[in-house]
Amino acid sequence: MQTSSTAAGDLFGAHHPLAGAVTRLGEQAVVLRGFALAHVDALWPALRAVLAQAPFRHMATPGGQRMSVPLTNCGRLGWTSGPGGYRYTARDPDSGQPWPALPEPFLHLAGSAAAAAGFAGFAPDACLVNRYRPGTRLALHQDRNERDFGQPIVSVSLGVPAVFLWGGPRRADRALRVPLWHGDVAVWGGVDRLRFHGVAPIPAATHPLTGAERINLTLRRAG
Ligand code: SIN
Ligand code: FE2
Repeated sequence: MQTSSTAAGDLFGAHHPLAGAVTRLGEQAVVLRGFALAHVDALWPALRAVLAQAPFRHMATPGGQRMSVPLTNCGRLGWTSGPGGYRYTARDPDSGQPWPALPEPFLHLAGSAAAAAGFAGFAPDACLVNRYRPGTRLALHQDRNERDFGQPIVSVSLGVPAVFLWGGPRRADRALRVPLWHGDVAVWGGVDRLRFHGVAPIPAATHPLTGAERINLTLRRAG
């Protein structure tokens, strides 16, 4: 992991320890430090509107266990988990309605972060929203329910910091521990598209925007 520092003097980046830097996780995987900070004023109300329409809910794993991290979705397709396995659906299974549309600020951030990471023309059709409270975690996994692995993943961190676990192509590969702060955007694709990744247990902390929570937006081209 290598972090190169660039100018970090902008208004929104002032509180980010590394804003403007790029942490390289792989040949085609980076963390763009503080990249989302300038987008948060537009992202946050749009996210609140999504949550009003499609609230967080705990889904079950295919094995029948309750997932500790509740989720929701926006976009044409939404990621779901249940006894039938993992799949994308066009409708929210709780409401029977289509998932809320992908808000323009989400699309704008995803496209510009992907382009900055070397993936021009990224147009997501799905955004998974995860909510982490202290002590919750996400086990190592691959994102592999999407149709085209040629499309990258754009993952936006909001709220309290976390340690991202960045593994290899095999589950048993040792995972790097990468701190993620509010406003960081991780992008991975190409040869790194199927790397295992996860989130270590979230510390008890507070953030002015989210309180004790960490919110992650994972933007993907699923269909
Ligand atoms: C995910 O892999 O779905 C989320 C990763 C994160 O919360 O940073
Ligand atoms: Fe993932």
